[in-house]
Amino acid sequence: MAQNAERLTTRPQDKALAVSVQHLVRRFGSRTVLDNIDLDISKGEFVALLGRSGSGKSTFLRALAGLDHDVLGEGSLQVPSTLSVVFQDARLLPWKRLVDNVTFGLSGANVKGRAMQALEEVGLHNRHLSWPAELSGGEQQRVALARALVRNPQLLLADEPFGALDALTRLRMHALLRRLCRHHEPAVLLVTHDVDEAIHLAQRILILDQGKLTVDVAVNLPDHSPARENETARIRRYLLQHLGVDTDLADATTSASPATPDQAPDQIAATSDVTRTPARTRRAA
Ligand SMILES: Nc1ncnc2c1ncn2[C@@H]1O[C@H](COP(=O)(O)OP(=O)(O)OP(=O)(O)O)[C@@H](O)[C@H]1O
Ligand SMILES: [Mg+2]
Repeated sequence: MAQNAERLTTRPQDKALAVSVQHLVRRFGSRTVLDNIDLDISKGEFVALLGRSGSGKSTFLRALAGLDHDVLGEGSLQVPSTLSVVFQDARLLPWKRLVDNVTFGLSGANVKGRAMQALEEVGLHNRHLSWPAELSGGEQQRVALARALVRNPQLLLADEPFGALDALTRLRMHALLRRLCRHHEPAVLLVTHDVDEAIHLAQRILILDQGKLTVDVAVNLPDHSPARENETARIRRYLLQHLGVDTDLADATTSASPATPDQAPDQIAATSDVTRTPARTRRAA
């Protein structure tokens, strides 16, 4: 743990990195929730963050978003100036129509046109004059995504954005988020409780446990089944083990098509010091 921790400093942006955190510490009273965390996220990289309830995921995300002024550290915190945050609840302003929710706080030329374009990207341009209360939960989250991405952020921070949605809507939102990310190419840090969501969406998955990033695993799924299913099952099993979940079910899935010796679960991830390695050189196995 950092001794004599001081407030984090900012440093000039590294060209290849969207996020660079060194020695980040967050305490609440005597309790250390984030214990000297280091993390680099490359530009355009999609990272998922898993962890048990209360492990500090939202606290970490708030620190990156600049919403927490009491984070400490001996190192530095580097995030892009253009970042957007999406939460589990859409947090739309109920007294503003959809288009005005998307333009809220937006500056520059053709604000309304950009908002309409963003609403079109999430399939809601025909509803631009609706009120938030007239939308379903999934539709409200789509507006929240439009509001986040209309700014073309270099970093999108998302705290369980699909956690309150039904399974079918969540799958549709996954497809939408993938499409939006291909278009806007932000770096993404997605906090989720859903291991499959993390594997499906992210290029890299972290687990936060007892204040540390204890797992940092790259996801390189083969294009074709059954290799894709095998790799998905293998990573899921590894993650569940590290989340303290009974892996009997995952064992049953993977036993049908055992991993080769060089694909042992122990080799698909490493501990927090891997975060110092450039992400693009990391391998899942
Ligand atoms: N403002 C605060 N004051 C005191 N303790 C706090 C504060 N904010 C968070 N905590 C504590 O920090 C710990 C981490 O909280 P956090 O919300 O980051 O967890 P989380 O991993 O996001 O959990 P969940 O998965 O349930 O959303 C919890 O034990 C929480 O009680
Ligand atoms: Mg949380």
